[in-house]
Order: sequence, then C-alpha cells, then structure tokens
Amino acid sequence: MSVRRLATAEQQPESFAFSKESEKKITFWMNKYPDDRKASGVIPLLWLAQKQEGWVSEPALREIAARCEMPYIRVYEVATFYTMFNLEPVGEHLIQVCGTTPCWLRGSDDLKAVCESRIGKKGRGHVSADGKFSWEEVECLGACSNAPMVQISNKNGDFYYEDLTGEALEKILDDLAAGKPVEMGPVTGRKCSEPFQAEVPVLVDASLYDGSLAKPVKRLPNAAKAEKPAAVKKAKPARKAPDADEAGAPVKNPASQKAAAKKAAPKAAAKKTPAKKPAAKKPAAKKDAD
Ligand code: FES
Repeated sequence: MSVRRLATAEQQPESFAFSKESEKKITFWMNKYPDDRKASGVIPLLWLAQKQEGWVSEPALREIAARCEMPYIRVYEVATFYTMFNLEPVGEHLIQVCGTTPCWLRGSDDLKAVCESRIGKKGRGHVSADGKFSWEEVECLGACSNAPMVQISNKNGDFYYEDLTGEALEKILDDLAAGKPVEMGPVTGRKCSEPFQAEVPVLVDASLYDGSLAKPVKRLPNAAKAEKPAAVKKAKPARKAPDADEAGAPVKNPASQKAAAKKAAPKAAAKKTPAKKPAAKKPAAKKDAD
C-alpha cells in the first residue's frame, strides 16, 4: 500500500461543517451506538464528509473527532488507512479502472488509454482541466463476469459500468461532462451477469435481480429492542412420587416379567430345598470268621 498523507496546507479549507442533509444521516448513524461507544461512528461520518465534499479535509477530521469523542490522531489513522477515503480534492467524478487479469484480458488497456487522453495523468490528485474527472487504476472490483469495467464515484453514489469498450467509456464521459444521466450496469443491455450467449434469456423476471423480492427490514440490526411483556410462567403440574419401578429397575412388560418369573422359580425352589445327599453306605457287616 502506498503512503497516504493529507493534502497540502494550501489545499486545506479554513473550516468544515456538515450540511443539513448530512446532519440527518449523522443522527441516523449515531443513534445506533451507545453513548460511551461514539467512536463506532467514525467510518460512517468520514464517508458522509467525503460524499458531501468529495474528499476528507483536515478540518473535517477534527470535526469528526469531536463528534465521535475520540482523539484526532485516531481519526487520522482510520482515514489514512482505508484507501476508500480521498485525502485530497478529486474531480467531480472519480473513475476507477479495474486492471486485474479478467478485465485486462478483455480490454482494460483501451479504457486506460481513453482516461489518459481525456483526463490526463492517472492518480486521484490529477483533476481534469474542467474539474470534472480524476482517474486511477485499481485491482479487481468483483464484477469480473462483466469485464472490463469501471467504477465511477460522485456525490450521488458509486456506480459500476460494465462490458465496456473504449468507445462506450468515451460516450459515458461525454454524458457525465454534459450533466446527462448515465445508466449504470452493462452497456450491452444484458441483465446483470446473465450469459450473453444464451439462446433463451434467463433473467426475464426483473424481481430475480432488482431486490423487490426481499422482505422489508422491520428493525435496524442494532436498534433498541422493544420492551417485551414479562412472560407468564405456566405452573408445572406437581410431579407424581415415583413408584418402585420409576425409582429403580426399568419397567418391563408383563409378558417378559412372567417369563422372568418362570425362569427364576426353579432356582428359588432349589435354594429352599437343597438336594438330599445320598445316604452314606453302611460298611458291610463283618462275617464271623468262624
Ligand atoms: S478483474 Fe475486473 S472486476 Fe474483477
């Protein structure tokens, strides 16, 4: 990662203030965090400052530090770590051209050539003469199946333009410069990333990809929970005192109990009446010798 520093003193404004529109969004974000965890709002607030001004200035960092009740240096560390934050003024539209392998194989060099001839040197800080554009090369933006593509960021959001050619990008830049609306997505007219060689179009039902099937969110994930009425505990029926079988030996079915009793009977009888020992033979009477 390259070294990221704040803009020069000459570029820094005297002061920074959030607009009314941004204030509403700040209220939304800060309400999500407990009073002693305001620092959690640092990234949303940096992002709001950037969307308002196009970049984050030093006075903006100080304002955010005060709002989040954290030291200025901590906000500085966050802003200089994440490359999504612009630390210097950029053009009204920041174009990020993906140069990773799938986009490169499908013609990202042509897109870079257009940016270079139209805007000039690459780098966020190099703004076109009319102040409209800056451009840079970035790594994969996750839309490889629609390569080659660019992301264009401005105050309205961050938008993907896909399946591009040099000519298609030129046209997009012309329209943006003229303030015309430009439709995001694949310029070829295919829906999302559906296979363009398919003989039968697969994404004919817009609800499959436009998000309209998603259920509305009822509650923000971190919103305070509504108080639930105390649950009424059901009285448990009094437990029956266990009988001998419950307490001890497992209960057997009557048939097996009978069989067991039969088996045990001879043994018990044998115990009670021990077998008689055979009477000892009396020695034969001695015949008189006479
Ligand atoms: S390689 Fe360009 S979007 Fe993934």
